[in-house]
Amino acid sequence: MELNENILRRQLVDVHGVPLFWSIAEEWAQVETFQAKQDDLLIATYPKSGTTWVSEIVDMLYNDGDVEKCKRDTIFNRVPFMELIIPGKANGVAQLIKMPSPRLVKTHLPVQLLPKTFWESGCKIIYVARNAKDVAVSYYYFYQMAKMHPEPGTWDEFLEKFVAGEVAFGSWYDHVKGWWEKKKSHPILYLFYEDMKEDPKRELEKVTQFLGKEVSEEVVDRILHHTSFQEMQKNPTSNYKMMPTSDMDHSVSPFMRKGIAGDWKNHFTVAQNERFDEEYAEKMKESTLLFRMEI
Ligand code: A3P
Repeated sequence: MELNENILRRQLVDVHGVPLFWSIAEEWAQVETFQAKQDDLLIATYPKSGTTWVSEIVDMLYNDGDVEKCKRDTIFNRVPFMELIIPGKANGVAQLIKMPSPRLVKTHLPVQLLPKTFWESGCKIIYVARNAKDVAVSYYYFYQMAKMHPEPGTWDEFLEKFVAGEVAFGSWYDHVKGWWEKKKSHPILYLFYEDMKEDPKRELEKVTQFLGKEVSEEVVDRILHHTSFQEMQKNPTSNYKMMPTSDMDHSVSPFMRKGIAGDWKNHFTVAQNERFDEEYAEKMKESTLLFRMEI
């Protein structure tokens, strides 16, 4: 195995115009030729938008609300991160090939980079979007604790990079807009983190219906309880504490950090906020997508 210093904190590498981890770029052929299946369920998100939350919800639905079954393994093994390839540490593609169907698959790829077999297979897709300001803050803390990312620099420097799309998985703006457009031609359930915070039961019903499942009130209540921030924060199979500290250091910032909408207000200065709003209006002007920056 290569030494961590040769693997971690390296610069991102451009893949068809999108900055990705160097090792994903190196192994891109494996990702590009990934074989999706009709009964896969793809959970697609821009990083820090509620991926783990929705993954836990869906795994609970797939296991009829059986908490013990959902504790059979960590969330990163139950819902493999398809394109994550890191030498000696992870290979989402290989993991998924070995996995029995029906598979739950996680991706952070922008819509144009998704392997084409996902579209050919016609599998269902759930996309979760979160407002840009909270994503930027959450991503800044994540960059610090998850060492595959380059050093984030100061908050101000990171925010600049975020707005410019010079962070892992590229531009938030292009990501949310790209998947929103794709919804017109493919069965995609497009959810918002803020809606899930506001009314988790209502959003769970959308997921249940989309998956064509029928669940009792008792199971609904159990899922809502098990997937609350408080429960997931202390659950070792969902809070990422089973990752080696060398890869994710929770003492720097926990993966399950705050789990709220509107935390950006504690981080953006007035000047940063004004500038961000200006650029936001420009980048989002042709889109019908609307985000709530707080609830
Ligand atoms: P914060 O850093 O703002 O706390 P992802 O899973 O896409 O990486 O997203 C991680 C973000 O979702 C983190 O946001 C995390 O705290 C939040 N999160 C995870 N589980 C959650 C839950 N059950 N309820 C609300 N937020 C949750």
